[in-house]
Amino acid sequence: MTKNATLTIDGNSFELPIHTPSAGPDVIDIRKLYGQAGVFTYDPGFTSTAACDSTITFIDGDKGELLHRGYPIDQLASQSHYLEVCFLLLYGYLPEADELEKFERLVTNHTMIHEQMHNFFRGFRRDAPPMATMVGVVGAMSAFYHDSTDINDEHQREVASIRLVAKMPTIAAMAYKYSIGQPFVYPRNDLDYASNFLNMCFSVPAEEYQVNPILARAMDRIFTLHADHEQNASTSTVRLASSSGANPFACIAAGIACLWGPSHGGANQACLEMLKEIGSIDRIPEFIARAKDKNDSYRLMGFGHRVYKNFDPRATVMKESADEVLELLGVEDNPLLQVAMELEKQALADPYFAEKKLFPNVDFYSGIILEAMGFPTSMFTPIFAMARTVGWISQWKEQLADPQLKIGRPRQLYMGETSRDYVDIEKR
Ligand code: SDX
Repeated sequence: MTKNATLTIDGNSFELPIHTPSAGPDVIDIRKLYGQAGVFTYDPGFTSTAACDSTITFIDGDKGELLHRGYPIDQLASQSHYLEVCFLLLYGYLPEADELEKFERLVTNHTMIHEQMHNFFRGFRRDAPPMATMVGVVGAMSAFYHDSTDINDEHQREVASIRLVAKMPTIAAMAYKYSIGQPFVYPRNDLDYASNFLNMCFSVPAEEYQVNPILARAMDRIFTLHADHEQNASTSTVRLASSSGANPFACIAAGIACLWGPSHGGANQACLEMLKEIGSIDRIPEFIARAKDKNDSYRLMGFGHRVYKNFDPRATVMKESADEVLELLGVEDNPLLQVAMELEKQALADPYFAEKKLFPNVDFYSGIILEAMGFPTSMFTPIFAMARTVGWISQWKEQLADPQLKIGRPRQLYMGETSRDYVDIEKR
């Protein structure tokens, strides 16, 4: 039975259908509103707007729930692994053993990039931030992989999906190696996805490099925790770019560009830089005061979320990983972790943060783990981008399969000058 919402404007009533989801709030369908009532809705930042329907990821911000195809993130983080989560996001179900083995072999065999793409890196200054390199190189993939840019060809969409999931670690590792002046390290087919990434980042030709399995497990878990997150800013960017028919590499490059901002994926880097700036526990009150000061635009990086209003389930798992990694590395008394834990404690005890429902998000602890592993802060967001690529691709595939797909084209509340005649310069 269809439910309707009734909108009354100047005595005229308009019936708007209400759609009931499998989980989450009902949705008022306003697609015919402008045609019927001649009005737009107004929702900058899309705080109350569902831009699409999807079956991939569900978030309940009040309960702190995150499901990928129905499976809770804490179960996936503890019982699954990143490439299996990639399969789940891309195809909608948990694979049987032979399907998973075939998928992992396919990804493994596509981890190398076209040798001529190495020249791209050499065009950048050595001190270029790896995010800039990644945006450039991923966008340029459309200049090398022409045989997987036709979005109307299902096989090409599949090839592009596997290529992007497989090659992002290689590109991110090469961006890192280039920024520190070390030689590129080729991917190895005998290593799992996370171990391969660590090897490409940290091994050098001069000596053997042994991947520590606990660090590899923590790395894999970080990838899983960042894999997808509903219609966040970068995913919405990928969907909007794809709605015009742009090729997959261009769409993912657009997603990387959006993720870069400190309010989004750039927060893990900004959070660690904030912890370093705080420096010691006794300076925490000063920074909390700044974050609360209405006249100061300063915000605590790693705190708050548009959707989570109690806790970010990913932060909970990430903190467990942080404890494990720091203990393994014998840096459990890491001063940054001490500052982070005390900052969390003081912020959560402060009425301002409780009232505004500001809690540590996924970016709060990830930076501490990554730094402990030896990554510079400039590699934090590239790692986020790499892990999120499967989410962007899954949402991209879902949108292209939607028969109702239209180009995204929002309208506006125009507050500028109304029509007026041009004035010659002599008369101004
Ligand atoms: C990610 O969308 C996703 O799913 C993103 C993500 C994903 O996986 O894709 O989860 C990844 O981006 C996580 C968020 C990382 N960003 C940060 O940690 C940066 C710091 N956080 C803020 O910039 C902010 O909390 C946002 C951007 C995350 C959310 O902003 P909203 O929902 O637009 O909230 P808001 O800006 O309207 O803030 C509401 C109030 C404001 O105060 P008032 O104007 O009502 O008085 O809370 C305050 C804000 O000033 N506030 C903060 C704060 N965040 C919000 N005050 C201090 N410190 C903060 N961090």
